[in-house]
Amino acid sequence: MKIKAVVFDAYGTLFDVYSIQVLADTLYPGQGADIAVKWRDKQIEYTRLITQSDPHSVSGSQHYRPFWELTRLSLEYTLDRLKLDRASGQVEKLLQQYAHLTPFKENLAVLKKIKGMGLMTAILSNGSMDMLTSAVKSAGMEDVFDHIISVDPIRQFKTSPESYGLVQQTIAVNKDEVLFVSSNAWDALGATWFGFTTHWVNRQGLPFEALPPHPNFSGPDLNTVLASLG
Ligand code: LAC
Repeated sequence: MKIKAVVFDAYGTLFDVYSIQVLADTLYPGQGADIAVKWRDKQIEYTRLITQSDPHSVSGSQHYRPFWELTRLSLEYTLDRLKLDRASGQVEKLLQQYAHLTPFKENLAVLKKIKGMGLMTAILSNGSMDMLTSAVKSAGMEDVFDHIISVDPIRQFKTSPESYGLVQQTIAVNKDEVLFVSSNAWDALGATWFGFTTHWVNRQGLPFEALPPHPNFSGPDLNTVLASLG
């Protein structure tokens, strides 16, 4: 295999978006898991709605809003949908926690090993740059990434081809020399369609999307990426 760069999705792959449910459950007893799932689903739905509704604009979608704003709006929607009070600072508390999401425990050691193999490393994320830098900093991962790439400058979210194309604008590699790693099946599929070599981190033991093809590799946690690199 001729992989030269390993590129990671951020949310769900490096940072645990569902770790938020502990705080959500404290603020709204018994509702934490439901809030975490509905919040994530609505956040991703908004990214698709925006990019799909204006896919051909050269300057990005006219409906575009940074991912941090979509994160806030999708949380507000979720609380309203569940008929939960959001008047007493809960939204700010949950957003504050989102800015410092728990990283998965094996990640830092795996990232250090990949750097030790002499490969380029990067994040490609829908997240806005300020969100990504604060999450990377609180996870102690500042030294293990060569590049942090946000879709923000092109105002298009994944899975648009332009968003995956940002990797090659940043690192001089062919598509198949990129190992793209995501725990979001839709993202692993979008990246496979784009032409990257792909690894799906299936943390929840889910079936892959019914749409073909499957990613080149998959495994239950980030350690398995090392096996994909041979
Ligand atoms: C990311 C989200 C969508 O791009 O997982 O990081």
